[in-house]
Amino acid sequence: MVWTSLTAVVSGGETSKHGNGAKMSANRRIVLSSDHAAIELRQAIAKHVETLGWEAVDIGPTTSESTHYPKHGEAAARHVASGDCVLGIIVCGTGQGIMMAANKVKGIRCGVCSDTFSAKMIRAHNDANMLSLGGRVVGEGLALEIVEAFLTTDFEGGRHGTRVDMIKEIEG
Ligand code: RB5
Repeated sequence: MVWTSLTAVVSGGETSKHGNGAKMSANRRIVLSSDHAAIELRQAIAKHVETLGWEAVDIGPTTSESTHYPKHGEAAARHVASGDCVLGIIVCGTGQGIMMAANKVKGIRCGVCSDTFSAKMIRAHNDANMLSLGGRVVGEGLALEIVEAFLTTDFEGGRHGTRVDMIKEIEG
């Protein structure tokens, strides 16, 4: 259900020429953030999502100076919760802390994935709107495959929609 509306958002906005010349919706935006433990991986993911036809909204940070993952998880989550971006990808050392922070923002369903099966399932069954990765857990090659699995899987709805609605009810 929510994926249906996501598809509508993705296909419904103004289109613009993008990168490879493909027509792209102005709303096909994905926010990226990380802490200091995953700057290079985040930047590689940003490039990769652009090659897949998404607009990467990379909100940093850009230096490797030690920083606090909760504020970066929250900042990315707010871009998704506000509708500025339809999806988000966040990265810290394990992916766990930044995921916990993102999930505190109402409307966010974020899972940590270290394999492509889980990345597909958090879309198909949980309608996740954010993906979290551990920059000290997965290498760049696997991380990019996980990202691709996440971005190319649709929410199945049906009984899974009932369960996602139950999660929303817990949020109040
Ligand atoms: C930073 O050292 C590290 O704690 C952080 O990147 C993350 O793994 C926390 O969950």
